[in-house]
Amino acid sequence: MIKPCIIGLGYVGLPLLVNLSKKFNATGFDINKKRINDLINGKDIFNEVKKKDLKNKNIKFTSSIQSAKYSNLFIVAVPTPIHNNKNPDLRHLKDICEKLSKILKHKDIIIFESTVYPGVTNDYCIPLLEKKNTLKEGKDFFVGYSPERVNPGDTKHKLIQINKILAFPYEFRKKELLKIYSLLSKKIIFTKNIKEAETAKVIENIQRDVNIGLINEIYLFCKNLGLNYSNIINLASTKWNFIKFNPGLVGGHCLPIDPYYFSFISKKNKFQTKITLAGRNINDSMAITVKKQIIDFLKKYDPKNNKKILICGLTYKKNVADLRNSLPMKIFSELKKKYNKIKGYDPLLDRSISEKYKFVNSLKEFKKFDIYIVLTNHSIIQKNLKKLNNSKKIINILN
Ligand SMILES: NC(=O)c1ccc[n+]([C@@H]2O[C@H](COP(=O)([O-])OP(=O)(O)OC[C@H]3O[C@@H](n4cnc5c(N)ncnc54)[C@H](O)[C@@H]3O)[C@@H](O)[C@H]2O)c1
Repeated sequence: MIKPCIIGLGYVGLPLLVNLSKKFNATGFDINKKRINDLINGKDIFNEVKKKDLKNKNIKFTSSIQSAKYSNLFIVAVPTPIHNNKNPDLRHLKDICEKLSKILKHKDIIIFESTVYPGVTNDYCIPLLEKKNTLKEGKDFFVGYSPERVNPGDTKHKLIQINKILAFPYEFRKKELLKIYSLLSKKIIFTKNIKEAETAKVIENIQRDVNIGLINEIYLFCKNLGLNYSNIINLASTKWNFIKFNPGLVGGHCLPIDPYYFSFISKKNKFQTKITLAGRNINDSMAITVKKQIIDFLKKYDPKNNKKILICGLTYKKNVADLRNSLPMKIFSELKKKYNKIKGYDPLLDRSISEKYKFVNSLKEFKKFDIYIVLTNHSIIQKNLKKLNNSKKIINILN
């Protein structure tokens, strides 16, 4: 009997746990005690999962790895960020591998879902898993890799509808594993090659980052030459193979990070990438461009600097409550240094986070401003803006 344990209950791990708990008794382990307490109380501050799903009796939440030791399938979805110098920060993976190493048993299976560079699972994680026991991977316990493609805030591509790659080099419990993963995705693409699956994941995000970088550059080019960007894109889109991307502020835990994982391992293998990081520079610089657009607008519209300004939408992406690597948040923090009357508003954020940053928290307070500058156009913000009277000035940057 398979007893799954999901490790790391964030944007990726929690939906996996909820889906598996529909058929299995499943454990959810996270080192963040507050997160575990919230989940026990039916509260997901990222709003990805509903209270009734968290209250499922099949789920056991825990922040003690000892409570997970009776599980025999561990699915790992811990963060894989970068250091300040942009090198991969694998400390969360290290921590969990060392913890698992102490509780691993014969015939356990561990599937990593965190985004990494090719080779991390075999060359970094497996040696750590073998460190504190006498078990050997491939003989006593078995490791696989299944990259996550979930796209928070995307209502068209929900977890189950997304094709999922599963890399598992062994025959051991393969059929059962495929059955379990079919609870997480309608279509499983199976491979025996972990390194290829790791690479496939990371290049998906690089392709996207580079393409958004290019369209951001075209957007800036049009602005610079006084050309109408939207008209130009509409004309170009009439060609059958023109691919449409939107200019914007790229953030979150994937696109601003994954290209650095790829270029790190390339450099280590003495392969010089030339395009991989090209999107990074221009996408990051969009924060400076947008900030300048706002300052130029305010110089004209509020020359005396006496109007009350509200920056609306601070998370990195529409309809997602995630502040990680958020360029809107970066722009807001910089504007705040220059304009004392500026405030922030993001109704998607949990109240505790809004209070921490002293953001506007109620509709009543929201209505008291003169100028509304929209950076992330959440549906709820669009709805609330319609409730304002005509005297208000609303500007939608990048739209
Ligand atoms: N968020 C996305 O849209 C997305 C999409 C595809 C892939 N990914 C990848 O999935 C992985 C997880 O991302 P996420 O967005 O879910 O991160 P997250 O920060 O939302 O969640 C990670 C969770 O892991 C917990 N954690 C950290 N170290 C731990 C440890 N040692 N033991 C147990 N729990 C630990 C944290 O407390 C947190 O709750 C990353 O590698 C990311 O690149 C994310």
